Amino acid sequence: MEMHEGHIAIDAPEGVASWDIDPYDAALLADPAPYYAELRAKGPFVYLTRYRMLVCGRYAETREVFGDHDRFVSSRGVGLQDFLYGEPWRSPSIVLEADPPYHTRTRRVITRALSPRAVAAMKDLFRAEAGALVDRLLAHGPFEAVSACAEAFPATVFPKAVGLRESDTRRLVDYGAMVFNALGPDNALRSRAMARAGDIVPWINAACARENLVAGGFGAALHAAAEDEEITPQEAGMLVRSLLSAGVDTTVSALGNALWCLATNPGAMAALAADPGLARPCFEEVLRVTSPVHSFCRTAGVDTEVGGVAIRAGTKILCCLGAANLDETHWEAASEFRIARRPMGHLAFGVGIHNCVGQTLARAEGEALLTALAERVARIEITAPPVWRPNNAIRALDRMGLRFVPK
Ligand code: HEM
Repeated sequence: MEMHEGHIAIDAPEGVASWDIDPYDAALLADPAPYYAELRAKGPFVYLTRYRMLVCGRYAETREVFGDHDRFVSSRGVGLQDFLYGEPWRSPSIVLEADPPYHTRTRRVITRALSPRAVAAMKDLFRAEAGALVDRLLAHGPFEAVSACAEAFPATVFPKAVGLRESDTRRLVDYGAMVFNALGPDNALRSRAMARAGDIVPWINAACARENLVAGGFGAALHAAAEDEEITPQEAGMLVRSLLSAGVDTTVSALGNALWCLATNPGAMAALAADPGLARPCFEEVLRVTSPVHSFCRTAGVDTEVGGVAIRAGTKILCCLGAANLDETHWEAASEFRIARRPMGHLAFGVGIHNCVGQTLARAEGEALLTALAERVARIEITAPPVWRPNNAIRALDRMGLRFVPK
């Protein structure tokens, strides 16, 4: 058996086109739509010659592979590396990178901690903080939207929701970026992000400890499950780590992408300002059009077949959620941002047993910020062009200058 990029090297299955493209190329990641379109056009699966693995980007097959935990496992890692054959850079997540029956146990605990009821209790806080932030930005004149809004809002509410005794926005955002870049190959994006591990990882690990989490937050709720002996104290810390890994950079990206969608679609912004009730569907459409988690892997656990293609056990498959969410055979006028579309079944939060356990929280944050905008802002002007921040798994802006024009 031959290894390549940390996983089993396969040859192209019969009938599958080979493609010498690098889906982790920084220029491609900054403008992925042409790659997504070509990927879908080439077939249900494409063989990546330089990674010796498969990639899929059509809606039907991406959904089938990503959502079928029986045939396509997560315990071998959701990035390029196959954990069966090498040590990952950190101990694997006990929820994201786990299969049933273990996943069922840890997922139950984290689902309860992040329940709709627990999130609903925080909605007033989210609304108040979002309103105050948008008021400050309206008074400010032009501002840099990623740091002053997309990061600033989760940086205020997320540490409170988790109950972090001490917060550090830079480390929280950069830890997420590191975790997601680590899912790709050993390219410049990954090594640049990993260079900061020595500073960030000890801070994150300390933040997960019981004594650093105040009562009333999600973190304390996870540790309470350890007191009830449902999980061990070590597992409780690992579940807090999951919140800090997956709960900040993703939301920051989604909110930045929302500002980009509204700034570049003035008609949608006008519709939102006219009807704040559109905040919820608007956030959903942002997720579909921009897919903040653009791609994650699965590993075939068995010999199987999808879309008429034979897949051998051990094959790594890059599931391109961003491409599936723009598949024109599934979505009408797929590339258009339609604020009232209500895109049921989009894959931005995944599908199946691993679907995003933080989606109620993410939606509550998105809805709070977009409602605050809708109530106060008539128009958004771009004062400095958007620049994307390539990441091996995340689609996010690096910076963009904006001015909010009041109602
Ligand atoms: C899982 C996206 C926000 C925690 C996932 C998955 C996706 C995703 C695509 C599926 C991964 C897979 O199947 O391999 C997003 C997006 C977000 C977001 C786009 C923001 C808009 C959050 C938040 C939290 C969170 C706020 C927690 C505070 C998790 C966890 C998992 C997960 C723990 C693993 C669940 C499992 O494996 O059972 N997310 N997420 N996410 N998400 Fe999110």
